[in-house]
Amino acid sequence: MNQVKTVGVVGAGQMGAGIAQVLATAGLSTLLFDAAPAALDKGLAGIHTRLGQAVEKGKLDAATSERAKQQLVKASSLKDFAKCDMVIEAIIEQFEPKAALFKELDSIVGPNAILASNTSSISITRMAAATSRPEKFMGVHFMNPVPVMQLVELIRGLQTSDETYAVVQSLCTSIKKTTVLAIDGPGFIVNRILCPMINEAIFLAQEGVAPIDIDNAMKLGTNHPMGPLTLADFVGLDTLLYILQLLHRELGEDKYRPCPLLVKYVEAGWFGKKSGRGFYRY
Ligand code: CAA
Repeated sequence: MNQVKTVGVVGAGQMGAGIAQVLATAGLSTLLFDAAPAALDKGLAGIHTRLGQAVEKGKLDAATSERAKQQLVKASSLKDFAKCDMVIEAIIEQFEPKAALFKELDSIVGPNAILASNTSSISITRMAAATSRPEKFMGVHFMNPVPVMQLVELIRGLQTSDETYAVVQSLCTSIKKTTVLAIDGPGFIVNRILCPMINEAIFLAQEGVAPIDIDNAMKLGTNHPMGPLTLADFVGLDTLLYILQLLHRELGEDKYRPCPLLVKYVEAGWFGKKSGRGFYRY
């Protein structure tokens, strides 16, 4: 079985930077690229800050933090990914840009390299079909915040080989994540369950229950680390709406209908924490 030693990450936003941080901390040679140079610099600076904080808190030893910083390299173009054993994509959640990226990567990386997507909702089989290596293509869905969350959902496309699955699963174990195998269907496992739960909380808010009461009910009554509306703001209301629309469209059941209040908030530009306002103000 091939072992992954060098990994490329495309997209230096919250997810991509988190993935790169975890890979480099585990000692893998990691290349990070973003089409926007400012985003790449911001992503790298954030990783350095978080590594420093982990050392200050005594969660990470200084030598590991230093090694992680050395293992993490800024890629100046996708061409730098030629030496990668695996590339993980974490760019905008839209099919066309992802498919175009994978087509390009397919022509750059070596014949044995694995291509993977951190998509939270797009069909792995469909993205794999945009490449010449659908058997070496997989979904690896990390949770936010990546350095903290234990889980990675693995998604096999129709043609993903047993070997690709085994290699990716072994990589996830080596970076101390726990994997589950999801189906290649809308929302995989986590979002299929989580998004309708949050949507229900938004219906309750629309019916007049105070957001703080909804959140406290679920935090104190079911030991969730964050209440559903705080979590909605954290995930991003635009992202949440996008996933609910997808579940609704693809599964065709009314139970996935996005709450009108959520639609209204997104129309107003209230995207949650990242825009300064959602169910709460930031
Ligand atoms: N990056 C790195 N570390 C972070 C972080 C970030 N963005 N945010 C928080 N942390 C770390 C903190 O540094 C802290 O570390 P230490 O324990 O070492 O001090 C730890 O997480 C706890 O943070 P806080 O004390 O500040 O706050 P908290 O106890 O409320 O925890 C939380 C924050 C980990 C985010 C917790 O509230 C939580 O688990 N929330 C639920 C998160 C969740 O459900 N994520 C999945 C979202 S769904 C998804 O990702 C799928 C999708 O496709 C939409």
